[in-house]
Amino acid sequence: MVTLLENPLRVGLQQERIPEPNIIVFYGASGDLVKRKLVPALYHLKRERRLPAEFTIVGVARRDWSHDYFREQMREGVESYSDGIGSEEVWRNFAEGLFYCPGNMNDPASYQKLDQLLTELDSKRGTRGNRVFYLSVAPEFFPEAIQQLGAAEMLTDASKTRLVIEKPFGRDLNSAQVLNRVVNQVCKEQQVYRIDHYLGKETVQNLMVLRFANAIFEPLWNRQFVDHVQITVGETVGVEDRAGYYESAGALRDMVQNHLMQLVCLTAMEPPNSLDADSIRAEKVKVLQAMRLANINDLDYSAIRGQYKAGWMKGKPVAGYREEPGVNPKSTTPTYVALKLLVDNWRWQGVPFYLRTGKRLPKKVSEISIQFRDVPYLIFQSAAQQANANVLTMRIQPNEGVSLRFEVKMPGASLRSRPVEMDFRYGSSFGVSGGESYDRLLLDCMMGDQTLFTRADEVEAAWRVITPALVAWDAPADPDSVPQYAAGTWEPSEAELLINRDGRRWRRL
Ligand code: BG6
Repeated sequence: MVTLLENPLRVGLQQERIPEPNIIVFYGASGDLVKRKLVPALYHLKRERRLPAEFTIVGVARRDWSHDYFREQMREGVESYSDGIGSEEVWRNFAEGLFYCPGNMNDPASYQKLDQLLTELDSKRGTRGNRVFYLSVAPEFFPEAIQQLGAAEMLTDASKTRLVIEKPFGRDLNSAQVLNRVVNQVCKEQQVYRIDHYLGKETVQNLMVLRFANAIFEPLWNRQFVDHVQITVGETVGVEDRAGYYESAGALRDMVQNHLMQLVCLTAMEPPNSLDADSIRAEKVKVLQAMRLANINDLDYSAIRGQYKAGWMKGKPVAGYREEPGVNPKSTTPTYVALKLLVDNWRWQGVPFYLRTGKRLPKKVSEISIQFRDVPYLIFQSAAQQANANVLTMRIQPNEGVSLRFEVKMPGASLRSRPVEMDFRYGSSFGVSGGESYDRLLLDCMMGDQTLFTRADEVEAAWRVITPALVAWDAPADPDSVPQYAAGTWEPSEAELLINRDGRRWRRL
């Protein structure tokens, strides 16, 4: 059993962790994610002295770039998407460990060439054969890349090599199962790191600490006291320049199957036996196995999709989804999803989990709110003319923190109550906000800690939950049948109805 001191989460909180010398290979190195997020996150770790001196990055993509051009591109990424280069000396030292290897993912020869470069770098930079292969490519290339890495025997040594797979992992249950089989043919589950960057967010990790390191919440965390749970992940951005991917994904695949499902799991799971990766992941899988859409025969009662139409954001007019570049003018792809889920187990029987996420909503906000039951009988007059149930809100972003809403007496002669909030903010308590999730995830992967990555059965179980909605929405449909919401508003009226019908309301954020 892992003791608390050995435990990776605790060690992560208490000590600076430095991984073994290693090489990270980024497939898709000319893409946005590497430039905007991954390399800036690694450079941040470098500046924080969290990387070993030998640490090396190799970018792989089809473009015919030189090592130097790759370095320039990455520098641009760090300058534009993080807090900058800082000391030139640190950058020089980091850039000396950046290499580029042009290659075509379908071509076995390019894997040989890469393998050769990695072996040379092992002796030149002392990286000892430790490798992380990070697939930051379009999902349709995952199987090919994994099979080729397997055929080139680059993942054979399970103690030294790891495979990181970006989302989406498959596009439905069946394709996720096929992909898992491909992965299992070439490496062991202990080598596989399926990324969900939401798990790297500080407040998401704090959810476990809040629940399991405090005695006061857990006794209330069940059907006896909780009326319902609302999870909102709102974005102000539209589809941006990602129509090619987004048109075939939509909000259900892009956000719900991964990020929102993880948030539900961490909210609903039982206390794990210990904090090791498999205990936690086993509890999350149990939640997913018990979870279902509230009504699979009539999706109006459990799954609503929507699409943004033209509207206003921050006083400026913005285009509707169907007018965005690269989007089919008759597209039925959802940019908004609201779900009502139930978890069939002793703790949660009958407690609805309402989830919503969308693009072009009025606010960028991610939060989980636990809405407690009303008092059985209200003897006071309330300013709101009704009992205000207690609400515990975990803000994932922005203003990371936790707040508890409860009633107090309003000053004055009459005995009237009004809700107030008790608020904890990461920023004010610790002087820092949540931090970037990729830093944490990349570090964990280099350290061999799988806690914040999804396991094969977990990813499949999440697909199973949303399958009825996927099937219904993938079927050809009259574009007019897709509910619309104006950009800059919260949801289509159908999604209001989903929750209002139960006598509840979406939180106004
Ligand atoms: C990504 C989705 O996984 O998460 C994007 O593909 C979305 O469409 C993004 O914008 C949201 O992440 P965050 O961290 O900005 O909430």
